[in-house]
Amino acid sequence: MNAQLNYTQDIAKATNKLFEKLSGQYKKEQWETLAPYIYEINKLKKEKNAVILAHNYMTPDVFFGVGDVVGDSLGLAQVAAKSDADIIIQCGVHFMAETSKILCPNKKVIIPDINAGCSLASSITAEGLRAMKAKYPGIPVITYVNTSANVKAESDVCCTSSNALKIVNALGKQGHDKVIMTPDKFLAQNVAAETDVDIIYWDGACEVHERFTAEEVRNIRTSNNDVIVLAHPECPPEVMAEADFAGSTAQMDDYIKEHKPKKAVLMTECSMSDNVAAANPDIEMIKTSQMCPHMKLITLPKILKALQTENPEVIIDQEISARAKIPIERMLELS
Ligand code: 13P
Ligand code: SF4
Repeated sequence: MNAQLNYTQDIAKATNKLFEKLSGQYKKEQWETLAPYIYEINKLKKEKNAVILAHNYMTPDVFFGVGDVVGDSLGLAQVAAKSDADIIIQCGVHFMAETSKILCPNKKVIIPDINAGCSLASSITAEGLRAMKAKYPGIPVITYVNTSANVKAESDVCCTSSNALKIVNALGKQGHDKVIMTPDKFLAQNVAAETDVDIIYWDGACEVHERFTAEEVRNIRTSNNDVIVLAHPECPPEVMAEADFAGSTAQMDDYIKEHKPKKAVLMTECSMSDNVAAANPDIEMIKTSQMCPHMKLITLPKILKALQTENPEVIIDQEISARAKIPIERMLELS
């Protein structure tokens, strides 16, 4: 459908400034293949009153080129909840698009590749969670947003990596000395290290973050004097113990903006580091190589096609959606 996209004078004029910003990421020839998509997508999204929500793990062409709102899972959900766009194009993975649809059931929510999944989301089913609840009756369930709508529908409250500790402590204050956390065992263990509330957890992990090791952090420090190490809480506890700061993708971004370290490394998905490097040219970002294959399914040609065809649309059973909305809204209230 989009075979004939040429790099014209108008497109060069409209995208040159952005290319300057991203010149550390893309060569000129490569940019000339990307810029026509950026131009077309930005034109069409205005015509259709569509908003593009782009997660921090999107590649820089998507993140800076077409994202109207960029951020972490929590930030994108908060924006989706308030958006007055007719169409939401979710540049991220499927659970994020489902969260937007649950919060905005009357809007068209489109994900450019319906197969963009998540190893955490696929580690747990509603049936599995029901069995866990039967084993621990009366214990409230805190479910990470990285799950399907079916699993959220079985949960009491959701959390993201930016507010997990806050949510656990909020339940603690309500008199719960024990909670169930699903599905990320490392997020649960990392929160458990900072709270008095007892945490029973599901045995899931992120296929990207579980690969980071404490030894890797030590090696990075040895070869990079004064590097500041930031880690995502989906990393194993031994990695967190070696880090200078831990937080969600948006919290890491805020830390960098606020502290402006000379040199930093993000123990998280690799595109985020490229985006931080482009936004902060004075900071030397040390590269790591862990890539999320699901996030990388979202590309400019697929975004353009999704806008043109208004497909693939995210559809959720109404009864499940209504039940899943309750724990998400509880989380948004507590955040
Ligand atoms: P954030 O909520 O920090 O953006 O994380 C989402 C995610 O999928 C991390 O792997
Ligand atoms: Fe899921 Fe991990 Fe990819 Fe995030 S980085 S979407 S948790 S697989």
